[in-house]
Amino acid sequence: MSPTSTFPAKRRVLSGIQPTAGIHLGNYLGAIRRWVERQHEKENLFCVVDLHALTMPQDPAALRANTQELIALYIACGLDPEVCTLFVQSHVRAHVEAGWLLTCETPLGWLNKMTQFKDKSQKQESVGTGLLVYPVLMAADILIYSADEVPVGEDQKQHVELTRNIAEKFNRRFGEVLKVPQPVIPEVGARIMGLDNPLAKMSKSSASSPGHAILLTDTPDTIMKSFKRAVTDSGGEIRFSDDPAKAGVDNLLSIYKAITGKAKEECERDFAGARGYGDLKVGVAEVVIAALAPIRERFAQIMGDRGALDAVMQRGAEKASAIADRTVGAMKDAMGLYRLPL
Ligand code: TYM
Repeated sequence: MSPTSTFPAKRRVLSGIQPTAGIHLGNYLGAIRRWVERQHEKENLFCVVDLHALTMPQDPAALRANTQELIALYIACGLDPEVCTLFVQSHVRAHVEAGWLLTCETPLGWLNKMTQFKDKSQKQESVGTGLLVYPVLMAADILIYSADEVPVGEDQKQHVELTRNIAEKFNRRFGEVLKVPQPVIPEVGARIMGLDNPLAKMSKSSASSPGHAILLTDTPDTIMKSFKRAVTDSGGEIRFSDDPAKAGVDNLLSIYKAITGKAKEECERDFAGARGYGDLKVGVAEVVIAALAPIRERFAQIMGDRGALDAVMQRGAEKASAIADRTVGAMKDAMGLYRLPL
């Protein structure tokens, strides 16, 4: 088999989200919404990266439930399982296998430089090896599908750059086996900040603290309350701004811009007659409520048929495995692992 035969004819997109509780507006605007908008243009694979979730302590029952719910949420957000391959990472063995092969090719120094590892490890007393090696598993997720594009939020850009470096190093040593992917970061919504602290990214790990995140399954009432208590500043000007002191207002306007698709000037104009930040908060809450309400309703419907969800995951795992196994086979051959004659 020629190594390049594992590359797809059509441009292929791969991305994933960890099934930890609290899928939020940042995940939606930074990632899922773009996947939905572009799903008909390319060949798509979207996974629920449950093996990544194990890098932090998880309650087993919650992890299991969150995994199925995230597949349901993908569909509720508009991903069509007839168009996209939706699957769970641990259902496709090739991820772990390729993860090991690539771990052996990744210099430790590259992993020590990852900012997310530095942030997360500083917050913990004991740091698991998985947390350090995690970006290599992410590289495996991408490279076994020969993905051309990886649509992610800003915080994952460094991991996709690392994936490129790993693929290039592997290819230099073993021949052109791996496709070098491109990160695709949205122009708007790539970094949504916490409503309680606009200097920190909205994150699932802080999602349980009240007023931090808007969850995709939040009720309209909760969404309105969270926006009303959003941290702003003591001024009154409603403008986009790079000034850290105005980060709260900037974040609210950015959410409004991402949801409505309006130009910056138009967004500012919409609030030109506002009586203080209260009007801004209510205005942003209203567009977010309108965008998320159909997702919440569809999610509830989809969760009513667990059998159909399992069938989507089963089909997804089969399609994904067929692609991934070919790449892992080519990697093993290139690296010199002995293959039994069939
Ligand atoms: P995760 O699960 O933390 O986040 C999922 C996606 O949401 C984006 N995102 C945000 N975008 C805008 N504003 C925010 N506040 C915000 N928070 C999160 C993330 O950039 C991401 O696109 N390592 C990845 C999961 C992963 C993956 C992959 C992604 C594993 N393997 C292969 C792409 C390809 C992660 O932990 O994302």
